[in-house]
Amino acid sequence: MDHWGKFWKQRHLTTFGAHFSGNYRGDIADYWMSQFSELKPFFRLFDVATGNGAIALLAEKYSVEHGMNFSISACDSAEIVVPKNSSVKFYSGLKFEEVSLGEASIDFASSNFGLEYMDYLKSLEKVYSILRSGGRFSALLHSDTSVVMHKCKIEYDLYVHVFERLKLFESLELFFKSRNDKKNVDGLKSKINTDINSFISENPGEELPKEIAGAIAQIFRGLAAGRSNEWVFYSLALLESEFYSASLRVADMVGAALSFDQINALCGTMREVGFIDISLDKFMGSDGGHEYGWSLVAIRA
Ligand SMILES: C[S@@+](CC[C@H](N)C(=O)[O-])C[C@H]1O[C@@H](n2cnc3c(N)ncnc32)[C@H](O)[C@@H]1O
Repeated sequence: MDHWGKFWKQRHLTTFGAHFSGNYRGDIADYWMSQFSELKPFFRLFDVATGNGAIALLAEKYSVEHGMNFSISACDSAEIVVPKNSSVKFYSGLKFEEVSLGEASIDFASSNFGLEYMDYLKSLEKVYSILRSGGRFSALLHSDTSVVMHKCKIEYDLYVHVFERLKLFESLELFFKSRNDKKNVDGLKSKINTDINSFISENPGEELPKEIAGAIAQIFRGLAAGRSNEWVFYSLALLESEFYSASLRVADMVGAALSFDQINALCGTMREVGFIDISLDKFMGSDGGHEYGWSLVAIRA
C-alpha cells in the first residue's frame, strides 16, 4: 500500500487528485451531505479508508455549519497527511480491521471508494461490530462500467505500454550508463526519441504521455546544463518510482471496481453478516447520466 502513502504525501485531498483539489464537490459531495442530513446531533461517525480525510472533513464542515457536534474519527492503512486544525481523530497507517474501536460505539460509518479495496468479509464484520443497533453504513463504491473506471483502464494501459512494452526506463538507464560510448548511444537515443514521439502521437487526447515526455526532457536538459551523473541517475530513479507508484494505484483502482455480480455478492455477504434494509443503486451523476459507481446503504440490525 506504499503507493497510496506516496500519493497522500503529495497532499491530495481526494483520490482524484487535482480534479477535486479543495475537496469533493458536485454529485459526490451532495451525496454525502444528504447522508449527513439524516443524522442526529452528537452522533459518532467513522470514515473507513479515509485517505487524506476528504469525507471526514466534509462531515466536520457539515457538523460545524449545522451545529451537530458530531464526533468524527477515520482511518487509512496508508500513512496519510493528517489535516491541521481539524477535530477529526485520524488513525494513520492502520488497517480498518485493526483499529481498536469499541463494539456498538459508532452511529454512522462511511466509505467513499474504500471498502472495495479491502477484505470484504473482515471489513463488513468490523463495520457491523462497531455500529450500534440501528446504526447506518453508507458507501460509494467503484463500478466496473463507471466513467472513472473507463479513464482508469485507459491510463493503466498507458502505464503497461511504458513499463512493459517500451521498457522506457530501462532504455533510459542504459543510455545514461553508456553515453560515452558513441557507437551504441546514437542508436539508443534515436530509439528513445521514436518511442516517446509515437507514444504521444498514438494517444493524442491523453496527458500521461506528455507528462512522461516532459519529465524525461527535464533530465536531458539537466544533463546538457552540466548536472552530475549522480543527479541524472537519482532523477531518473525518482521519476521511475513516481510513475511506477502511480501505475500501481491505477491498477488497484481497476482491480477494486465491482461488476453487477460482484456487488450483488457483496450485498449477500452483508446479509450474512447481519445487515438489514440493504439498498443498492447505481450512483449516477446529475450531468446527463454519467455512471460514477454504486451507492450502498445498510442498517445494523
Ligand atoms: C481510493 S482511496 C479512497 C480514499 C478516500 N476515501 C477518498 O475518497 O479520497 C482507497 C484507500 O483505501 C485505503 N485502504 C485500502 N485497504 C485498507 C484497509 N484495509 N484499511 C484501511 N484503509 C485501506 C488505501 O490506503 C487508500 O487510501
